[in-house]
Amino acid sequence: MRIAVIPGDGIGKDVTAEAVRVLQAVSAASGKRLDLETLPWSADHYLATGVTIPPDGFDRLREYDAILLGALGDPRVADGRHARDILLGARFTLDLYVNYRPVKLLDDRLCPLKDRGRKDVNFVVFRENTEGVYVSVGGRFKPGTEDEIAVQEEVNTYKGVSRIIRHAFEYAVAHGLTKVCMADKSNAMAQGHALWQRVFREESAKYPGITATHQYIDALAMFLVKDPGQYQVVVTNNLFGDIVTDIGGALQGGLGMAASGNIHPGKTSLFEPVHGSAPPLAGKNVANPMGAILSAALMLDTVGWKDEAARIEAAVESAVHERIGTADIGGSLGTREVGDWISARLKA
Ligand code: NAD
Ligand code: IPM
Ligand code: MN
Repeated sequence: MRIAVIPGDGIGKDVTAEAVRVLQAVSAASGKRLDLETLPWSADHYLATGVTIPPDGFDRLREYDAILLGALGDPRVADGRHARDILLGARFTLDLYVNYRPVKLLDDRLCPLKDRGRKDVNFVVFRENTEGVYVSVGGRFKPGTEDEIAVQEEVNTYKGVSRIIRHAFEYAVAHGLTKVCMADKSNAMAQGHALWQRVFREESAKYPGITATHQYIDALAMFLVKDPGQYQVVVTNNLFGDIVTDIGGALQGGLGMAASGNIHPGKTSLFEPVHGSAPPLAGKNVANPMGAILSAALMLDTVGWKDEAARIEAAVESAVHERIGTADIGGSLGTREVGDWISARLKA
């Protein structure tokens, strides 16, 4: 198994180092070979070379079984171009149309909601990952003047909307789930989101065993805080999925706990924590590495190392139960010490 590792920027480097140690520990314990090759693409690399990702970068990435990424974003690159080229570039060029973001609370203690716990926070979000407002179709006219016009189109295609909605239903069937909720803003976005409405009607008709519901995205955001227990599978567009999965991170105890996969089923896919590079925390041994470690577990699960993935998840869950953690989840350890504990648990 060959994995490309892109630590990236800020705490991306800190948490990826721990995810790598955990992967090495689980591979040593299972006796199965895992080759981890680090790629330098980051703000440092861009500032030193002028290159965000080399022209053959995505072809090189396709040769790996999977990609593990930390985070991209650095105040020295004010327009964030390297993050767009590398991260959004990978999503678009490798056609990673499924952004899979499980929202699973590991311990009642970490729930920010009053009188709620593990039984209320256990669902998955499928975020469309290759279109929407992220495609950067548009432009600015008369920039910098009082007549400036800025246009950023939202692109919704039948192909793109169908495949993510179908994926959500197929996931529900495969996991014995019975509810899929689609969220859009079709009351205001009467063109693009009419397409979501039509496709959701068509696809849901093919899955009579699944209760298909619709919520407007503003209501979904409210219910995520008020009554998250109603959800099993949520499917939504690129931007709304980005926003609601930060709420999902908070429901799991904080952004540092949340894992994700950018997936094209059957092809090289990219795994990363939901959080960003958190510049104020970078290099201080304080970032929570659990989201990155759980993303590594999602990666192993996706490439077929099911046992190893389950063992990593169990080790993280034990850590949380035993109050092993960084300060953001009420612990007293550093990034490295949490990585040490989880790695040691896997070797035991
Ligand atoms: P962020 O996710 O980096 O951090 C927001 C806040 O959440 C932090 O200040 C911190 O309080 C907390 N946090 C996040 N991760 C944590 C962790 N592992 N442990 C403990 N606390 C954690 O979001 P931001 O500050 O809006 O963005 C910073 C940079 O990261 C920006 O450049 C942004 O574009 C980029 N970003 C990148 C990715 C990615 O690469 N996938 C994702 C989100 C943001
Ligand atoms: C995420 C991030 C990215 C996104 C940024 C860095 C472009 O917030 O992966 O959630 O908006 O998709
Ligand atoms: Mn985000």
